[in-house]
Amino acid sequence: MILFCISLYACVDLIIKTWVKWDTSPVLVSFARSPTPVWQVPFPAITICSETKARQRVYNFTDAYDRVVHGANMTDEEWKRFSDSSLICDNHLYTSGEKVTGFDTIEYLMSIAPQFEDVFFNCKWTLLNESCDNMFTPILTEDGLCFTFNMLDKSELLRDKVFLHGDYMSHGRNAEGWTLEDGYPKTAKKDTFPRRALSAGFSAGLFLVLKAYEPDLDYICRGPVQGFKILLHHPAEVPRVGTQYFRAPLNQEVVVSVKPDMMTTAPGLRNYDPHRRQCFFPSERYLAYYQSYTQQNCQVECLTNFTLAKCGCVAYHMPHEEYTPICSSGSQMCMFLAKSKLCI
Ligand SMILES: *[C@@H]1O[C@H](CO)[C@@H](O)[C@H](O)[C@H]1NC(C)=O
Ligand SMILES: *[C@@H]1O[C@H](CO)[C@@H](O)[C@H](O)[C@H]1NC(C)=O
Ligand SMILES: *[C@@H]1O[C@H](CO)[C@@H](O)[C@H](O)[C@H]1NC(C)=O
Ligand SMILES: *[C@@H]1O[C@H](CO)[C@@H](O)[C@H](O)[C@H]1NC(C)=O
Repeated sequence: MILFCISLYACVDLIIKTWVKWDTSPVLVSFARSPTPVWQVPFPAITICSETKARQRVYNFTDAYDRVVHGANMTDEEWKRFSDSSLICDNHLYTSGEKVTGFDTIEYLMSIAPQFEDVFFNCKWTLLNESCDNMFTPILTEDGLCFTFNMLDKSELLRDKVFLHGDYMSHGRNAEGWTLEDGYPKTAKKDTFPRRALSAGFSAGLFLVLKAYEPDLDYICRGPVQGFKILLHHPAEVPRVGTQYFRAPLNQEVVVSVKPDMMTTAPGLRNYDPHRRQCFFPSERYLAYYQSYTQQNCQVECLTNFTLAKCGCVAYHMPHEEYTPICSSGSQMCMFLAKSKLCI
């Protein structure tokens, strides 16, 4: 009888321990049984931003800043230009002025930024000459006008209600059967979109020669470091150039090798509650501005919602609807606080 009771107690104890373990962490991460060939994952999207935000020949920010510091007389027009451009330069420089602004600010910022032909010199994909404007599309980011390669078209990335002032993120190539959840279909052609690398190594990658024009460099706007910011990201994700990037300095060569990190989720986990398995499938979580859920897109949307709630406006680069107010230099402190409070 005593032996029976002891073994019953031990069994129940083990069962409870196993139950608690399953209840708190039902998901097990293990290695895949076979390796995935590199052509089954898309080549990363690449976003390139020039560190020059205002071409000095078009708008001399250094000159304007000197005049503001020395209290020179400025016309209303000059004040407007200065407050617009301080949105894109380091934000401690000027934080007063209007709270909200219109689309003319975005237009102006884009017109003073280095344009496509100021940035690209030569592009090669898998060692074949290709014209750069076939590959790169302009995009509006927190670093102003950037250019992106291999990212999904806006019609497949953003919801219809997102308003873009201008022809950004659109290159007209649809993902030919590729989806975030299922990858490439079996019938995908060799040169499908999003582009993929067919083998490892330099010869299957992207080769770029970038240029900057010396009289255009401005050392007050973004500080003394010049060159380009480069960010690799997922094709179904918007770049957040302010948080992750590496730099390509002037007069130097930078070589990057990419090691993809892929996590596949067993279909058996679909029936679990997302909060228990601690992740969402892309189709499970509806985002108001993006068509597919990824953690990054969700964080951008969250920051946008939070900024709109706190400041009553959104930054010029955030996704928004047509009549949402755009923050001007007077809201910079508020936007900065919102960002640091959210801690993402
Ligand atoms: C911009 O202004 C600065 C200071 O006034 C001056 O040294 C520089 O030559 C100007 N740049 C251009 C391109 O005019
Ligand atoms: C600014 O303008 C005012 C009035 O037009 C004038 O009295 C003043 O001398 C000017 N200041 C400078 C630094 O030019
Ligand atoms: C590739 O582009 C470079 C620069 O534009 C040009 O000089 C070269 O002739 C091109 N090569 C081919 C094979 O088209
Ligand atoms: C952002 O706000 C919209 C509209 O209120 C809402 O539908 C959406 O779920 C919010 N997004 C996030 C990530 O909370």
